[in-house]
Amino acid sequence: MKILVATEKPFAPVAISQIREVTEAAGHTLVLLENYRSTQELLTAVSEADGIIVRSDLITAEVLDAAKKLKIVVRAGAGFDNIDITASTAHNVVVMNTPGQNSNAVAELAFEMMLYQARSGFSGKSGFELRGKTIGLHAFGNVGKYVAEIAKGFGMNIYAFDPFVNEDVIKNSGVKVCKSPEDLYSKCKYVSLHLPANDKTKKSVGYDLLKRMPQDAVFVNAARKELIDEDGLLKIFGERTDIMYLSDCEPDCKAVFDEKYKGRFIFTAKKMGAQTEEANINAGVAAARQIIDYFKTGNVKFKVNK
Ligand code: 3PG
Repeated sequence: MKILVATEKPFAPVAISQIREVTEAAGHTLVLLENYRSTQELLTAVSEADGIIVRSDLITAEVLDAAKKLKIVVRAGAGFDNIDITASTAHNVVVMNTPGQNSNAVAELAFEMMLYQARSGFSGKSGFELRGKTIGLHAFGNVGKYVAEIAKGFGMNIYAFDPFVNEDVIKNSGVKVCKSPEDLYSKCKYVSLHLPANDKTKKSVGYDLLKRMPQDAVFVNAARKELIDEDGLLKIFGERTDIMYLSDCEPDCKAVFDEKYKGRFIFTAKKMGAQTEEANINAGVAAARQIIDYFKTGNVKFKVNK
């Protein structure tokens, strides 16, 4: 079988070597399309693929139409909002993700942005410490749990809101439970967002939640820009001069921030939360193994299109 790795943002070379090793050991052929710049390149590459490994690459109905032999797509990562799930099901293509495999990297990046901001961008200007400060985790999934672990090491006071996680799981992690997002945002100087992007969550964080945050609030988004209602974000920035926004995904309204809110935001140029060798190896190899296993045994444990 032909397994295509199609990544506009490439994995570390060491991850590719390991993906190749497990793929070839199972008797399959690995084809690489890295750093591609046009949809046409992707459309051409998918035509011969039986399985595809992607990251945030868009798997649209057009791509699925061009992938005549395709049986399975694995998103090497957590969020599968880049894949047209309905079209995949209609094309009889199994879609999987690799939950948890890159979560520590994303959690570390959320913290790295917080540390950089707390120490005034390492400019020499006086900053502040994280010990004793409140942090709220908006969702307590794989990434939220790692952020909680790091926050504990820094002596922070940790809260979480996640109606899908049993309260005991949250409490047993040394984290206090909030009953609503309103409660979380009102209590915490830092809020770190860890929701998946879907029809229910898109644009779900905006003015109404952000306005509740205390003085000198820092809002951290290492998840997706689509979760934010940017009109609301701009409204609160217009009203308050103390609030900060740290994001691992440039908002669509970045130009306004550049013009009006210098010094009050950090935006990474490209989504890079999962861009570590470790995360690339973990997620990339897990994706390859899931495809190999699917071809061999039909295992659909991580299937996301039911
Ligand atoms: C994920 O959903 O797994 C992360 O956002 C990482 O995305 P990436 O693989 O495009 O870096």
